[in-house]
Amino acid sequence: MPAFKLLLVAACSLGFVSASLSGDLTGTGVRSVFPGDSDYASASKAYNLRFTFNPAAVVYPTTPEEVSSVVKVAYDNNYQVVPRGGGHSYVANSLGGKDGSLVVDMSSMKAITIDSSANTAVIETGNRLGDVATTLNAAGRALPHGTCAYVGIGGHSAFGGYGFTSRQWGLALDPIFAINAVLANGTIVRATEESYPDIFWALKGAAPSFAITTSIEVNTFAAPSYAIVMEYSWNDMDYETAGKSMYSFQNFSLSGPAAPFGGELVIGKGSQEGKVSFAFTGGWYGDEGSAISTIQPWLDVMPSPSSSRLVGDGTYIDSVAQLSGTTLDTSSAPDATDTFYAKSIMTPEGDPMSLEACTAFMQYLASEGFSSNTNWFIEVELYGGPNSKIQEIPNDATAFSRRDTLFTFQLYASSSNYLPPYPDEGFTFLDNMVTSVTSNMPSGWNYGAYTNYLDERLQNWQTLYFADNYPRLRSIKDQLDPHDVFMFPTSVEE
Ligand SMILES: Cc1cc2nc3c(=O)[nH]c(=O)nc-3n(C[C@H](O)[C@H](O)[C@H](O)COP(=O)(O)OP(=O)(O)OC[C@H]3O[C@@H](n4cnc5c(N)ncnc54)[C@H](O)[C@@H]3O)c2cc1C
Ligand SMILES: *[C@@H]1O[C@H](CO)[C@@H](O)[C@H](O)[C@H]1NC(C)=O
Ligand SMILES: *[C@@H]1O[C@H](CO)[C@@H](O)[C@H](O)[C@H]1NC(C)=O
Repeated sequence: MPAFKLLLVAACSLGFVSASLSGDLTGTGVRSVFPGDSDYASASKAYNLRFTFNPAAVVYPTTPEEVSSVVKVAYDNNYQVVPRGGGHSYVANSLGGKDGSLVVDMSSMKAITIDSSANTAVIETGNRLGDVATTLNAAGRALPHGTCAYVGIGGHSAFGGYGFTSRQWGLALDPIFAINAVLANGTIVRATEESYPDIFWALKGAAPSFAITTSIEVNTFAAPSYAIVMEYSWNDMDYETAGKSMYSFQNFSLSGPAAPFGGELVIGKGSQEGKVSFAFTGGWYGDEGSAISTIQPWLDVMPSPSSSRLVGDGTYIDSVAQLSGTTLDTSSAPDATDTFYAKSIMTPEGDPMSLEACTAFMQYLASEGFSSNTNWFIEVELYGGPNSKIQEIPNDATAFSRRDTLFTFQLYASSSNYLPPYPDEGFTFLDNMVTSVTSNMPSGWNYGAYTNYLDERLQNWQTLYFADNYPRLRSIKDQLDPHDVFMFPTSVEE
């Protein structure tokens, strides 16, 4: 092979950057990291080590105007752009989900401004959930959001954002009343229900396909005066009992437990074939003393647990820390990594799972799950029940389309040592796990999947993620981003 060809190959594997992109980015004055720079490897590292991508550059703007300048440069040079919040995308979409994207890292934009008379806050999207919770709590306020402190509010609130307060307060995107964002052509907008209503609608559930959100303006909630974490576990449950237990949890959920209650079933590998470990973790945000009575109707039909406990000192912020299991101060310790594949199922509240589907699922976990060499877990998150805030908003009111969900399953399997390579059998293990539920339901069962547990191998993702909202999303994409600047695997198509 001639020498110049070798050089080209080497240049490509490093990620080829046109002279004008690097020159123009340098001209903006925004800190930019390019292939070959000493910090490029760390700047382009994914949370999920199953993915390695080479972005064209990683830039660190400090203001909305700087975000606008770098987007304009990318637009003029025909580069595709992705924002990065906390970097916890399951499929490394905040690195582009492919080589050659411009990554706009928001970590230099971490302001949180609280208005204590209006009970609102403006939160820049470089923040992580732990820092948002801590800062709001210091002012006696709170927001609904997920459990892991290191997840970024940028991606989390762009796609949904579920936590144990969501039945009481909604998803992380629900309290947002205005979104400050940079569009594909670099224009800065403040979108609300009144101004740019189409943009506001699309950003609430599908933001990454349309804009870079620089800050969200939210209505905050009074931090609950009492909060406690509840844990019940049943070691080595046989699969038939586990199927009945999930079914009775569904029955209990449909009966509408009090709204300041939320939680999830957590299922893992048993110590013998035919068995699983079965647990419930929940949060209670109401009167002190009413936590257990709320869940008692379900406990009454369950076998006695191997262990049960209430965790925490009763303060709201301690409950957030207990659920995270890490420090809430995300600047004090580095983020983790993993090597994993994940899938999800959102079950329609109007068409709950049959006992057969619950039992088939547990049978699969107790057999295939016992022999799998992955480290796997299942979470069955309670979204619904007749009094859940998530469902008060109609499915077509925001881009987030699956509000009539009773449970969201997260099916998650890591490689045996949490490092690459990810084993091929890990994909089929999870594919067939989903099928163990869906094949035991009628063929037209209208289940969905959750965009924050993104699955790059998902078939029919348009419908599973966005249901009836997909046609409107496509037409807004066509108007706002005709050149597909904001493109990544599973971005809204034109
Ligand atoms: C350990 C762990 C725990 C989790 N727990 C929960 C949970 O309890 N509940 C829950 O609902 N989810 C949970 N998730 C999923 C999490 O909500 C998503 O992975 C989320 O998208 C991550 O956001 P991020 O900003 O950290 O990620 P990123 O990788 O930075 O972003 C994810 C996506 O959003 C886009 N994006 C990021 N910032 C912006 C922005 N400013 N404007 C527009 N688009 C943007 C990115 O381009 C990318 O496509 C968890 C994930 C992990 C890894
Ligand atoms: C279903 O819930 C009702 C109360 O809402 C309870 O009486 C019944 O025992 C439950 N059935 C199962 C199978 O859990
Ligand atoms: C940028 O896009 C927005 C939304 O489509 C449009 O309103 C605006 O006129 C565009 N600006 C320029 C400079 O093209």
